Amino acid sequence: MNDIGKRRPIASPAPAAGADHKPAPLGGFPRVRMRRNRRAAWVRDLVREHALAPSDLIWPVFVVEGTKARQPVPSMPGVERLSIDVLVEQAAEAKHIGIPALAVFPQIADNLKTQDAREATNPDNLVCRAVRALKKAHPDLGVVCDVALDPFNSDGHDGLVRDGKILNDETVAVLRRQAVVHAEAGCDVIAPSDMMDGRIGAVRDALDAAGLMDVNVLAYAAKYASAFYGPFRDAVGSSGALKGDKKTYQMDPANTDEALREVALDIAEGADMVMVKPGLPYLDVLRRVKDTFKMPTFVYNVSGEYAMLKAAGQNGWLDAERAMMETLVAFKRAGADAILTYHAIEAARLLAKAKS
Ligand code: PBG
Repeated sequence: MNDIGKRRPIASPAPAAGADHKPAPLGGFPRVRMRRNRRAAWVRDLVREHALAPSDLIWPVFVVEGTKARQPVPSMPGVERLSIDVLVEQAAEAKHIGIPALAVFPQIADNLKTQDAREATNPDNLVCRAVRALKKAHPDLGVVCDVALDPFNSDGHDGLVRDGKILNDETVAVLRRQAVVHAEAGCDVIAPSDMMDGRIGAVRDALDAAGLMDVNVLAYAAKYASAFYGPFRDAVGSSGALKGDKKTYQMDPANTDEALREVALDIAEGADMVMVKPGLPYLDVLRRVKDTFKMPTFVYNVSGEYAMLKAAGQNGWLDAERAMMETLVAFKRAGADAILTYHAIEAARLLAKAKS
């Protein structure tokens, strides 16, 4: 007698050769073998849940005065401050490999940094000139500008300082002007990163009153008082100037419910997109923000995160390329729609290579 036509009971799997077979509970091993979907690249490709694309990336760049200038930032291996002409050339590559937008950060000459941060609202400041040059050469490339006073302030703080206190409402009045000046220079996305209260609504109103209603507002909504900004402050030259810390305006790293309140306020005040910053140490915040508000949610993979990875890579302690891609996909997994990262060009090049 043969077995054809004889049904095997559903609950009893084929016995392993030679094994003393005991039926497994439905759904369990050995019927279920998770490794089957991992056994070859083609099947891993098919079952992959999250994908990183160049179109997810925003490239933060540092701009300096001069021409043909490229100044390496020692605490950020591979990152350079660029003069406007070089920046415009580099932007061509970014666009070519599919990066949708840049974020411009200036290193302002020390003699232009004042207590009233007046250079921040000069329509001919370094940021405005960089934005005009970028938009002229690459009209289709998005340009994001930070709105905060730290690069322009002799105190190194994001707000105006009086008697050691960071002034909220006086700062917001300057931020409104800074936002309008940057947007008039051609900036597409105004990104207040200062964490003053009420600034998103104030900036939105100022833009609208100036007829700039199409300019987006990206709120650094949940921005923490983090040790991971150190290399950035070297890059923009604000670390020497900074007196004290930013704990009276940036968030306490121990809080998440507070992040949700911050984000809710910024949305109510008219933010088009919200951001969580830093990235890797705050993936839980990113996930909660995305789940709660379902807003376009960005994350900033900040300078210190970049520096750690590069330093370990340079020491041969880890494979920096793989660690970079793993980091970036972690942001997608945690709910990010877009990622500001100093790895943008390198990652986009790798993605292009993997495709070809
Ligand atoms: C300034 C600003 C900071 C960063 C972006 N905008 C630094 C700070 O708040 O001190 C940090 C970015 C990074 O570390 O890569 N308002």
